[in-house]
Amino acid sequence: MNPTTTQTPSPKVRYTEEILASLAEEPPRLPSKYFYDATGSRLFDAICALPEYYLTRTETGILERDAKAMAAAIGPHCELLEYGSGSSTKTTLLLDALVKPARYIPIDVSRAHLHDAAQRIHARYPDLSVEPLCADFAGEIVLPSEAAGTRVAYFPGSTLGNLTDAGARGLLERMTRTLGPGGLLLIGVDLVKPESVLVPAYDDAAGVTAAFNRNLLVHLQSLVDLQVNPTAFEHRAIWNADEHRMEMWLEASSDQVLELAGQRFAIPRGKRILTEFSHKYTPERLLDLAAGFDPVARWSDPQGWFLVQLLRVRG
Ligand code: AVJ
Repeated sequence: MNPTTTQTPSPKVRYTEEILASLAEEPPRLPSKYFYDATGSRLFDAICALPEYYLTRTETGILERDAKAMAAAIGPHCELLEYGSGSSTKTTLLLDALVKPARYIPIDVSRAHLHDAAQRIHARYPDLSVEPLCADFAGEIVLPSEAAGTRVAYFPGSTLGNLTDAGARGLLERMTRTLGPGGLLLIGVDLVKPESVLVPAYDDAAGVTAAFNRNLLVHLQSLVDLQVNPTAFEHRAIWNADEHRMEMWLEASSDQVLELAGQRFAIPRGKRILTEFSHKYTPERLLDLAAGFDPVARWSDPQGWFLVQLLRVRG
């Protein structure tokens, strides 16, 4: 065998292959994880502050009201693992309420995000041991050391909703292995609600979500040298009732050709590229996806728009 074929390909080669495969699907797709370059992260923070984007505000409201009850249900001396530690506002609401947490382990693919999160938490809780872990939760998460206390995974923000149902089942199953029997998961998910509320949340009047969506193309220009004209694509946000999800698309406003690694993808005028799913759940559907867990307690807002569910690994 040619030894060069056994070497791990560079990140750029892996990204290119993944993006080529996504663009070759019908309809063509682009992976949503590439939204979050520096500009994308800044635009996402702006989305969270939009009047139409109820998710962040609603989930934060639930934590402000019920973090004490969550902490009581979790118990003292826990080891908190955070899956995808973006900005830690919600985490501090939880950490403020937890009784003598033993350790905080933020998990993120981005070393920069991880470093920032660890710094912020360390500055605010100097006595808490912080052990950042750079890892992609698309794969198995193996923790380096013995649990310092009851393991509790915190997975807020309805990030689960970006995955297909099969992807969500897979992640939740891997979490049962990382946590071990008796381990806990505190997960925040967005709930099904009227289309008249959902669509504006993903198609705001100020056009911030449109800029966020188009920035995916801009990011891929530098990440993998994708040849594309981002200004030739319109943002579309659609409620897919059959699949219980919001979808974001980029629609060509004139005939376009994308080129990557010598392959060309024709996108005629009116054709769309799928860039994101955002599944909306019912409490029952979430429990069905989290098959290896038992429900412990749940908290919601007065309108029933968002759910924070505590689950325990069965066994
Ligand atoms: C961070 C994935 C939960 O799906 O609502 C916001 C991302 N996309 N507006 C979501 C997003 C468009 C967000 N998540």
